[in-house]
Amino acid sequence: MRSLINNIAQLVAVPPGPVGGQAFSNPPIVEKAALVIEDGKIAWFGPAANAPAGKLDEMIDAAGGTVVPGLIDCHTHAVFAGSREGEFVRKLKGASYLEILESGGGIRSTMRSVRAANVEQLVEESLPRVKRMIAAGVTTLEIKSGYGLSPDDELKMLRAIREIAKRVPIEIVPTFLGAHALPPEFDGRPDDYIAAISDDGLLERIANDKLAEFCDVFCERGAFNVEQSRRFLAACKTHGMTPKVHAEQLSASGATKLAVEMDAASADHLEFIDDSTIAALQGSRTIPVLLPGCSFFLHSSPAPARKLIDAGLPVTLATDCNPGSAMIESLPLIMSMGCAILRMTPAECLVACTANAATALRRQDCIGAIAVGHRADLLILDVPNLDRWPYRVGVSAVRTVIKHGRIIQT
Ligand code: NIG
Ligand code: FE
Repeated sequence: MRSLINNIAQLVAVPPGPVGGQAFSNPPIVEKAALVIEDGKIAWFGPAANAPAGKLDEMIDAAGGTVVPGLIDCHTHAVFAGSREGEFVRKLKGASYLEILESGGGIRSTMRSVRAANVEQLVEESLPRVKRMIAAGVTTLEIKSGYGLSPDDELKMLRAIREIAKRVPIEIVPTFLGAHALPPEFDGRPDDYIAAISDDGLLERIANDKLAEFCDVFCERGAFNVEQSRRFLAACKTHGMTPKVHAEQLSASGATKLAVEMDAASADHLEFIDDSTIAALQGSRTIPVLLPGCSFFLHSSPAPARKLIDAGLPVTLATDCNPGSAMIESLPLIMSMGCAILRMTPAECLVACTANAATALRRQDCIGAIAVGHRADLLILDVPNLDRWPYRVGVSAVRTVIKHGRIIQT
């Protein structure tokens, strides 16, 4: 199967991740471009005038639009039950995220809804959400468990994630977030909960059924400390899962240094990151993932994106889509927030949500870039240049979504 996308006003040729430094701010842009897809992979791209001849099975007219790699949302809690708009309003009136969490709301509120649902109900509530995320331009989506908070309920969530993966035309990457919060039956006994959720039998089941590729922990006051987080991640790692960490979200907790120590794929949030921690990230493979939707939603101070960029780090953005701190499904909207809140340029936001997000999911060799041999996961945008995309806040510019060379939405 050989297809040609022609009539591209701008092709943003994002290189494979991790992309930091000069390349982060200046991905190559080919004007008046074309791109050839062969058997689901990018076979050629360049100025349309130089496009190779040869028989084609399909011609796709970009109609003067912009073509970019498919977006990768590398941090989401998109599978859950229920809704928490009551807390949203409480927060507007002054309650803090931590106050709500400590008064039995927050993550525990969604936990109650998730425990009351079966796999099919979880799928029914979450699938439309995932489909909307795809319509917004996402071609690879990470989804975490973390609202079951018991071995059986966590397994149920991972099964719901797997079921959703079967029903959508994109790749879903599952993460076991067993250590997201302390469930009420373990009040005052966090070490016992960590032991229960790190149980060998449970982790073996997750590994044998390939229910999770990554593991994750909320390392924070009100959740788990560094020592408990280390124990949980180490146990998961023994069973083949790659660590990720919710780090430095509400305080400087040392969680990012733990992520580096454990060779985690990413350290996510980083609102409270300090200089010595930035230095620790510089010598590591751990990708900094920023979630400006949380600052927007919780009216909290954002992560120091420009500082991380100036340090040459391969900064990444994600939605963190979840019912408490960021009920946001659109990654392009997060790119607009990357510009308006974090002062990143549209080009930087795009690299963040493609090549670097692929690296945060350890898939930089096959997705996230416009490179020969990379999977043809592409978006055709209804804008004549990249900058216009996040500039037009909150309206979709995504005309066509291509996954593995196949049009999945137009
Ligand atoms: O990434 N910080 C912890 N977890 C989520 C919030 C989950 C929730 O409030 O339901 C986050 O912000
Ligand atoms: Fe999160």
